[in-house]
Amino acid sequence: MARTAKLTFDDRSIDLPIVEGTEGELGLDIGKLRSGAGLITLDPGYGNTGSCTSEITFIDGEKGILRYRGIPIEQLAKHSTFVEVAWLLILGRLPKQAELDDFRERLGRNAPLHEGFKHLFEGFLADAPPMAVLSAMINAIPCFPHTSRDDESPEERAIEDAARLISKVRSIAAYGYRRARGLPYLYPDPKLGYVANFMHLMFSCPYRQHEASPEMVDALNLILLLHADHEQNCSTSTARMVGSSQANIYASCAAAVGALWGPLHGGANVAVLEMLESIHKGGVSAADAIKMAKDGTGGFRLMGFGHRVYKNFDPRARILKAAADKVLAQLGVKDPLLDVARQLEEMALKDSYFVDRKLYPNVDFYSGILMRAMGIPTNMFTVIFAMGRMPGWIAQWKELRDDPKARIARPRQIYTGPNETDYVGIDQRG
Ligand code: ACO
Repeated sequence: MARTAKLTFDDRSIDLPIVEGTEGELGLDIGKLRSGAGLITLDPGYGNTGSCTSEITFIDGEKGILRYRGIPIEQLAKHSTFVEVAWLLILGRLPKQAELDDFRERLGRNAPLHEGFKHLFEGFLADAPPMAVLSAMINAIPCFPHTSRDDESPEERAIEDAARLISKVRSIAAYGYRRARGLPYLYPDPKLGYVANFMHLMFSCPYRQHEASPEMVDALNLILLLHADHEQNCSTSTARMVGSSQANIYASCAAAVGALWGPLHGGANVAVLEMLESIHKGGVSAADAIKMAKDGTGGFRLMGFGHRVYKNFDPRARILKAAADKVLAQLGVKDPLLDVARQLEEMALKDSYFVDRKLYPNVDFYSGILMRAMGIPTNMFTVIFAMGRMPGWIAQWKELRDDPKARIARPRQIYTGPNETDYVGIDQRG
């Protein structure tokens, strides 16, 4: 029998259906709350609000579990690649070899940028924020022609759109990096895979091709894969919100880039590095940083710590911490910031302030150290996060648009402003 919860308010009572997820999560369906009881819910920051049902990603924040389409992140990190995970997230199952080959071919074919794109880039100053450039350029993708077959099935169409977006974002990110340095645009190398090609597009010279080491390629693959989706976070909810007005996928993902940019979300990977650098240079000690975070001095927070959903170790942070140790050793890189990070983590995990609030390192705490070891400049960290998150945004946007019951996202509010007030002419205002 369907479960319900009874809500009583003044002399009114209403039975509200309970929705149960496949992992036993329970939600109260409040669709009839306003018409039945004259109430809306108030939940700033949406801490207790489910905005949708979704089959894509499962997180158990208390246990530190993350699964894409049911597959534990640890297994994907060990056995899969970013490109395969993208297909898994968007299409809902692991691809067969021929399907993966076809997706790779589409990624390669979509990699070059239209000549007109380069003119758009020229309008930006060399020090333009890379996330601003990325968002603007994603919005511009549909302004350029794209050939597609008329006889494509809806699934083929979805695969082609996803490949176009995931591939173009890589080329845009790499060209943005080069433009900022006055370096010329390079053509993608069709022989290279997604990650190696990105490194070629970033770091090659016209006269000498950059050859990324397998360790570098694996590490970047891992970073992208671990960022690929994270259910209804701020940027993904933005993509869904924009998509709910039936805006196209490019506009929706460009908006998500804006949401990701903020330091409380994807921008935290930059903020972590700045914090670690400042501690290393002696601006503040690790103990000072912990104290400032506890006091909330000037709004200071321990960046890379805490998460709305995880009240345990973020499983992605665990994997990245181990990867940082391994990759730095493989590359022979000695980074004092890794020692600062370890020291901070150790101090925070023993401190009752962090323990009581269940504040653990999140994905951003170690990702920056890894990217730094790979020679990626700090202001590109959040761009790389966006590249990684692209399959998740696409999958969530597609799920929304394939849902016949989806409605435009339009929250309500409790108005707390002045009651009706008459307009006063400017000469009569005190
Ligand atoms: N440093 C110090 N204190 C913190 C931190 C932190 N990093 N994070 C949370 N707290 C404290 C808060 O001050 C609050 O304390 P109180 O109960 O005494 O008032 C308590 O922990 C709960 O914090 P909230 O702000 O309510 O948690 P919320 O779920 O709203 O925020 C967030 C989550 C934004 C991630 C927060 O933990 C934070 O600002 N962390 C630092 C930024 C960061 O690393 N962001 C990346 C997140 S992962 C990602 O988006 C990819």
